[in-house]
Amino acid sequence: MTQPTAPRIDAPRIDAARVAAAHDAARAAYVARNPGSAAALDRARRVLPGGNTRSSLWTEPFPLCIEAGEGCRIRDVDGHSYVDLLGEFTAGIFGHTSPVLAKALADAHARGINLSSHTPYEVELAERLCARFPSMDRVRFANSGTEANLMAVTAARLVSGRGRVVVFRGGYHGGVLTFGAGVSPVDVPFDYACLPYNDIDAVTEEFAENGADIACILVEPMQGAGGCIPAEPDFLRALRALATEHGAALIFDEVQTARMAYGGAQARLGITPDMTTVGKFFGGGLAFGAFGGRADIMDRFDPSRPDALPHAGTFNNNSLTMAAGVTAIDHYLGAEALDALFVRGEALRAEMTALFAERGLPFSVSGMGAIMNIHACSGLAPEVDQKLLALLHLTMQERGYYFAARGLMALSFAVGPEELAGFLSALGEGLDL
Ligand SMILES: Cc1ncc(COP(=O)(O)O)c(C=O)c1O
Repeated sequence: MTQPTAPRIDAPRIDAARVAAAHDAARAAYVARNPGSAAALDRARRVLPGGNTRSSLWTEPFPLCIEAGEGCRIRDVDGHSYVDLLGEFTAGIFGHTSPVLAKALADAHARGINLSSHTPYEVELAERLCARFPSMDRVRFANSGTEANLMAVTAARLVSGRGRVVVFRGGYHGGVLTFGAGVSPVDVPFDYACLPYNDIDAVTEEFAENGADIACILVEPMQGAGGCIPAEPDFLRALRALATEHGAALIFDEVQTARMAYGGAQARLGITPDMTTVGKFFGGGLAFGAFGGRADIMDRFDPSRPDALPHAGTFNNNSLTMAAGVTAIDHYLGAEALDALFVRGEALRAEMTALFAERGLPFSVSGMGAIMNIHACSGLAPEVDQKLLALLHLTMQERGYYFAARGLMALSFAVGPEELAGFLSALGEGLDL
């Protein structure tokens, strides 16, 4: 009697040709559905290179042009409405409308903008930030996360008198501190050791060879732009120990992860860096960055000292951002609200993971709390995975759910259980592979 043949478990379950055909059809439908966005790009191309002033927004064949937002929804110039699951790449934690922030801004505006000196707002915001981050004795403000990281690294280098900066492949600390595939030609020219993330041996080796030259380690507790890859707690503990042993500053870039708890990821992990950078939502929806840390480092910026390091910026203490930041912290960014958002994100990730497994869909989702990234994982060529992710992105967009083409999602407070249930059901039904 012949035995029944066992099913071939090593055969790829995904048919690359079918994926390519589905992708091309979804892309053609996208083009047909969005003539207004296509026209907006054509117009922008005449004055902005590629029609773009923020590279991360570029998506093939052209990005949507969004003309308005309200709560958790956005509307494009062709009149389509989407549930915004991208949350302005983590900065838009409040949703798109907030009467509370609007009032704070109007009140600050009524008291005069561009006040030519110190204002009461900046100390209010500084007190709140120093109170919440274990590592921040003092803080200074900037206008972006990029600038905050540049200043933190500069401070660590000048205070230590050393030049070398340890960073990690896949890391993103701003437009001129980007290490996705190693050191980029646009990066500010520091002496970098760009090492693999979560690799304790590589960092240990680097410190053994160059410990006396290393000014600082700049690291994200979770690599955000790098695909939402959380650091292993042991890796961060090893960085803490090596920095202490060799007299280097450990800088946590919490521009994204500050939302993981009242005191940021550092509080959740119980690891205290020497310096911390934040940005995004602490400006209450306006352009913002801040760097802070140990008093002995930060106090070098005290302008009354003979050895003071300068740090300038016309808008560092602008009253609108400062006032919006204070209100955002008091009204939105309390411990309970952030913990609840974290739990909501963890639950969503677990549900997505279960759904992908149940439906046999070749995707995974990584992340921490309410920031996550979908990855295609067919086991076939990288180009197939790229098409798969693009297909998922286009399909979900057509169904009214908006996230980054690279798979990034960041929940805002405005995204409720109904929207998430709708998203999960669309995700389960969307693809027939
Ligand atoms: C971890 C991290 N650091 C720094 C930055 C740079 O902040 P900004 O875009 O405000 O310059 C970003 C921006 O996405 C970020 O995700």
